[in-house]
Amino acid sequence: MMNKKITYIALALILLVVFVQESSARTIPQSDANPLLKRGEDKDVCVIAKSVFHDEVTGIITFAEKEKGCTYVFGLFSKGLDDPKKNCYNVLVEDCDGKVVANLTDSIEFADDGTKPFFTKIDVDLKDLLGSGDKRKRQAAANAVVTSNSGTVSTAPLSAI
Ligand SMILES: *[C@@H]1O[C@H](CO)[C@@H](O)[C@H](O)[C@H]1NC(C)=O
Repeated sequence: MMNKKITYIALALILLVVFVQESSARTIPQSDANPLLKRGEDKDVCVIAKSVFHDEVTGIITFAEKEKGCTYVFGLFSKGLDDPKKNCYNVLVEDCDGKVVANLTDSIEFADDGTKPFFTKIDVDLKDLLGSGDKRKRQAAANAVVTSNSGTVSTAPLSAI
């Protein structure tokens, strides 16, 4: 009687594990190989970061990397970006050396001294980007930067959440 019960519980557990693995495997690209064996060496990552602007410019950009090299970007500016036609604002992501790694401008619609909510996908390895800063110098690894045709308007460091 006891053995039967243990067998049943073990079987239920195995089914549960298989089900959970299957449903999470469905989000990664399918291949012919058994997804149960492939997991662990796939490109799954989970890194989330934010940039908060709170000077003359108010806004937030959130970054989420689910798969290596593929980062989703969500953001909104509510203040400080007046007259976008005249100022030609650009929103950029720069690494610790100030090199532009992503240009978000084309996915942003400016409105009412700020922007409408925006969403885009960038080919950036967020984990790599966050890890590139020099911690001893307390230097931010990467920054989100708003520029206009007269230079940098505002800068906010990317920090992991
Ligand atoms: C960013 O994109 C905008 C719009 O396409 C473009 O005008 C601007 O020159 C780009 N800036 C950089 C630094 O790549």
